[in-house]
Amino acid sequence: MNSLADSIQESVELGGLNTLRVAARARFYVSVKRVAELVEALDWAAARSLETLVLGGGSNLVIAGDFDGLVIRVAFSGRQWEKASESGATLVLGAGENWHSAVLYAAASGYRGIENLALIPGTTGAAPVQNIGAYGVELSDTLVSVTALDRTTGQLVTLSNSDCRFAYRDSVFKQQSGRYVIVEVRLRLSRSRPLSLGYGDLARYFSDHPHPEQLTPLEVAEGVMAVRRRKLPDPEQLPNVGSFFKNPVVPLARWEELRSVNPAIVGYPAGDSVKLAAAWLIDQCGWKGYRTDRVGVHNRQALVLINHSGGTGQDILALAERIREDVFQRFGVSLEIEPRIVP
Ligand code: EPU
Repeated sequence: MNSLADSIQESVELGGLNTLRVAARARFYVSVKRVAELVEALDWAAARSLETLVLGGGSNLVIAGDFDGLVIRVAFSGRQWEKASESGATLVLGAGENWHSAVLYAAASGYRGIENLALIPGTTGAAPVQNIGAYGVELSDTLVSVTALDRTTGQLVTLSNSDCRFAYRDSVFKQQSGRYVIVEVRLRLSRSRPLSLGYGDLARYFSDHPHPEQLTPLEVAEGVMAVRRRKLPDPEQLPNVGSFFKNPVVPLARWEELRSVNPAIVGYPAGDSVKLAAAWLIDQCGWKGYRTDRVGVHNRQALVLINHSGGTGQDILALAERIREDVFQRFGVSLEIEPRIVP
């Protein structure tokens, strides 16, 4: 019988496994398709005192250097419907399923809830980690539960929506980084919930539609795709990890202060606070479209850093640091890097 150990590869280039296309080597690499294989891979690494790095689509990751351990790519597949009723159904997705394909599948089946999250790169298993969000919708709006391997106990556990401690681009999977490996995700989708078309760019896109409330979820997904393509670079052409910084949340009083000095500043209410558009802050500092031979800032969205040609994770992080310093100098606002930095 073939054991998983036979499929572990040595000295593997990771450039093709991260959407920033940063070159780096993993000492060992394996792709796992089932939970039993995942457990075997973790045991194999533990027996050799090797660190592990679990990867999905590599679309929210900055690889800062070579990795002297075992990289495990989670490739669990599977799409199933559960608990279908008149009003909705639960979609169960394997962690390795491509997120965008899952969105199109749900939308084409007439189910609502994740259509605004079309075209977000990466796998389904990575989606809860940063609680992906776009155009007024977050994954946490529809997520019922996550099945994960808890590495502290070696047990499979089910985390409910509240167990996941979701917040803006945040979750227990980020807060307790390395503890859980996500195996499966359950989403409750609806046939009738109102579409979410209020977000600026999306609202403008559908503004001349006579009956926007009659749009199908697939039409909304197509609108989202068109809007994203205008501003956000395709990682296949311009390697990137989406927004490089979180939009900083500041207290109302701070917002008023900032606005008195910068009347054009862009922000959105977020509870008692205000979420500032980091892209605006970066843009004001003159970074939009900046580039060196290797890395740069996207010329249509200042929040996205690009690896133009042969940039390393260190090049990207050095650029991010210069941007952070400038924004802090000018506005006194501290930007937080959004993607995961490894090792
Ligand atoms: N703006 C500028 N300059 C720019 C870009 C934007 O001044 O270069 C200003 C505009 O006023 C614009 C505002 O910033 O109205 C906000 O920009 P945008 O609507 O493009 O959204 P964002 O806040 O920059 C967030 C998410 C995106 C998500 C979009 C749409 C974060 C960190 N980013 O970006 O998510 O697609 O909203 O919902 O929350 C990602 O997380 O990787 C990501 C792409």
